[in-house]
Amino acid sequence: VTDPLEIRAYRAGDRDGVVALWRACDLTRPWNDPDADIALFGRDGNASILLGIRNGRIVATAAVGHDGHRGWLYYVAVDPVSRGVGYGRAIVRAAESWLADRGIPKVQLMIRNNNAAVAGFYAALGFETAPIIVMQRWLKETPA
Ligand SMILES: CC(C)(COP(=O)(O)OP(=O)(O)OC[C@H]1O[C@@H](n2cnc3c(N)ncnc32)[C@H](O)[C@@H]1OP(=O)(O)O)[C@@H](O)C(=O)NCCC(=O)NCCS
Repeated sequence: VTDPLEIRAYRAGDRDGVVALWRACDLTRPWNDPDADIALFGRDGNASILLGIRNGRIVATAAVGHDGHRGWLYYVAVDPVSRGVGYGRAIVRAAESWLADRGIPKVQLMIRNNNAAVAGFYAALGFETAPIIVMQRWLKETPA
């Protein structure tokens, strides 16, 4: 039985707990300043960071947004000591509802090559591998 998880949107004051969780989950990278990412997710209303709260602690996150066409997930994370009880599923389902409520028909996400094993988690939630090559180009100074 999964303990209930309170899920709500990020608000001022959550910053330290969120960044600590992302670091504990090895999701931060030198080229993704967490404060800049948090600010961008909150800027335009087409994105949000959803938090899973248990006993007053932030134990899960999923950043969700859409570009007018597809929905995307980022920073899907569950505190290492709180894994395996359904919080990952709950926060992803909440992000899917956020998108569905806005009329977005499809959700996608990217997995780093060195984290490919996490595909099993998404497969358990009904995701499938997309026949897509993702390409990228920096629009600011290329990070070191
Ligand atoms: C991936 C992560 C969010 C899963 O969180 P969790 O709370 O342990 O997941 P849940 O308990 O909700 O698991 C849901 C289902 O996925 C399965 N699952 C979870 N982790 C899995 C894994 N690594 N491989 C295969 N299946 C997995 C569970 O067995 C469960 O399946 P079931 O319901 O059929 O029994 C968590 O391990 C995490 O934060 N990892 C580090 C950060 C990360 O890699 N994020 C993804 C970036 S793309």
